[in-house]
Amino acid sequence: MRFRPSVVLALMLALLTPHGAVGQGSAPAFQPREESPEEFPAHPNRDDAFYGCTACHNFKLVAAQGLSRAQWDETIDLMVKRHKMPEPDAKERQAMLDYLETAFPPRAPAGRGWQNPFLRR
Ligand code: HEC
Repeated sequence: MRFRPSVVLALMLALLTPHGAVGQGSAPAFQPREESPEEFPAHPNRDDAFYGCTACHNFKLVAAQGLSRAQWDETIDLMVKRHKMPEPDAKERQAMLDYLETAFPPRAPAGRGWQNPFLRR
C-alpha cells in the first residue's frame, strides 16, 4: 500500500504535533504503513498475516523472527493479551499461522543466537 507523498507529509506533521492527550494506556501510536505484503516471502495467506499484524507495528518486526508454529501461536496470544490485539477467530488464526510457520520457521539451533525474550522459559 502506498500513500501519496502529500498524505505521508500530513501524517508525519500530525504525528509530530503535540496534542496533549494522545489516548491512554498501552495503545501504540498509529504508524503510517510503508511496507507492502509483496516485500515478504510469497506463500498462501500472506495478506492475512500481513494485515493482521501491521495494525500496530511493521511486518519487518515479525519477519525478523524465526519460530515454530507453536511459538507463533504463543506470539499471537501475547499480542492479544498484552497488546490488545483483537482476538482472531479460529479461521484467521489458522491462516496467519500457516503463513508465519512457512515463511519464518526457526532458523538458529535451539539455545543459540538471538532469543525472543517474551518466549523464553
Ligand atoms: C494490537 C496491536 C498489535 C497487533 C495487531 C500485533 N502486535 Fe505484535 N506487538 C505489539 C506491540 C505493542 C509490540 C511491542 C513493540 C515493541 O516492543 O516495539 C509488539 C511486538 C511484537 C513482536 C516482537 C516481540 C519482541 O520480542 O520484541 C513480535 C514478534 C510480534 N509483535 C509479532 C506479532 C504478530 C506475528 C502479529 C500478527 C499475528 C502481531 N504482532 C500483531 C502490538 C501488536
